[in-house]
Amino acid sequence: MSDRPVKRVCDSYTIQVQLINQSHLNGYQRLFGGQLMAWMDEVAGITARRHAGTNVTTACVEKLDFRAPAHANDTLVLTGHVVQVGRTSMTVLVHAYVEALDGARRLINEAHFVMVALDENERPTEVPDILIDTDKKRRQQEIAEALRSATR
Ligand SMILES: CC(C)(COP(=O)(O)OP(=O)(O)OC[C@H]1O[C@@H](n2cnc3c(N)ncnc32)[C@H](O)[C@@H]1OP(=O)(O)O)[C@@H](O)C(=O)NCCC(=O)NCCS
Repeated sequence: MSDRPVKRVCDSYTIQVQLINQSHLNGYQRLFGGQLMAWMDEVAGITARRHAGTNVTTACVEKLDFRAPAHANDTLVLTGHVVQVGRTSMTVLVHAYVEALDGARRLINEAHFVMVALDENERPTEVPDILIDTDKKRRQQEIAEALRSATR
């Protein structure tokens, strides 16, 4: 039995909201994908550092899917939660939604970010375990593990 501390998914769950303006658009007047990826990476980083309690770095991004466009004046909601942990790495699932004025959310992007916890010497360091206590979380953990083993 491991003596690592265990944290809940809700302990590091992160939400970030952005208002899309003209400076975020590409030549086709849609949200520039690189801008969206930067925001998603930031959310993944904040989620992972909340879980690890250390600085973190992005090791890899898996299965980043652009599902729908976003436009100027859209409210963009980004969420991040830890779905899987290794010894020093964590997979953070990030979702990006456009939120309508009535509050309804439309998924426009999702991706798995593999984040690694770093110690004061910038070397990988052990992270707390994650409590997986629902079928949905178990499925998300299995998907993250399958992605990891397909790419490593
Ligand atoms: C990520 C990094 C810290 C890993 O360092 P390393 O010396 O290879 O460390 P290790 O081999 O001990 O791997 C540490 C963990 O990261 C995981 N990992 C490392 N590279 C990975 C990759 N490309 N994809 C997925 N996981 C990776 C390992 O599986 C291991 O996980 P575990 O401890 O949970 O089993 C190092 O490669 C690095 O600093 N890369 C640059 C990161 C960066 O600058 N990101 C910002 C992009 S601009």
